[in-house]
Amino acid sequence: MNVIQLAQMLEFPQHGDDRGHLVVVEGIKDIPFDVKRIFYIYGSDKNIIRGQHANKKTEFVLINVVGSSKVKVNDGKGNEAVFTLNRPHTGIYLPKMIWKDMYDFSEDSVLLCLASEQYDSSEYIRNYDDFLKAVNIQE
Ligand code: TYD
Repeated sequence: MNVIQLAQMLEFPQHGDDRGHLVVVEGIKDIPFDVKRIFYIYGSDKNIIRGQHANKKTEFVLINVVGSSKVKVNDGKGNEAVFTLNRPHTGIYLPKMIWKDMYDFSEDSVLLCLASEQYDSSEYIRNYDDFLKAVNIQE
């Protein structure tokens, strides 16, 4: 299976009742990794493109807990897919070694990101040509 096929939407258990909604995301159970880090992105304008990197080690799950955004993934081998995040009980799983752009943020967007690793800037590939070289050497 190539990395584009691994990138997929996930739907999380909802425990809504007349008091409101509660969504659960448990490491290993609801997503394929244990969560070591969370961060969230908000206040990005509609014309901003974030991400634009790949990670050598880290897997992510991205959830628009408020508002919406889009995520474009690219495997560096000609395969691309676009996902819309617009429901607080769904997210996208992103495997390692996939190039990702996050864009088209709604004004109220709060994008929650769950990560399999603690932050290490050296495992981020931020240059697209370096990414192309890395994925095409791996074969
Ligand atoms: P960046 O990776 O550019 O964000 P995005 O994934 O949206 O493109 O990160 C923005 C800044 O925040 C950058 O200076 C690195 C820093 N940062 C951390 O210190 N720890 C983290 O876990 C993350 C994701 C970013």
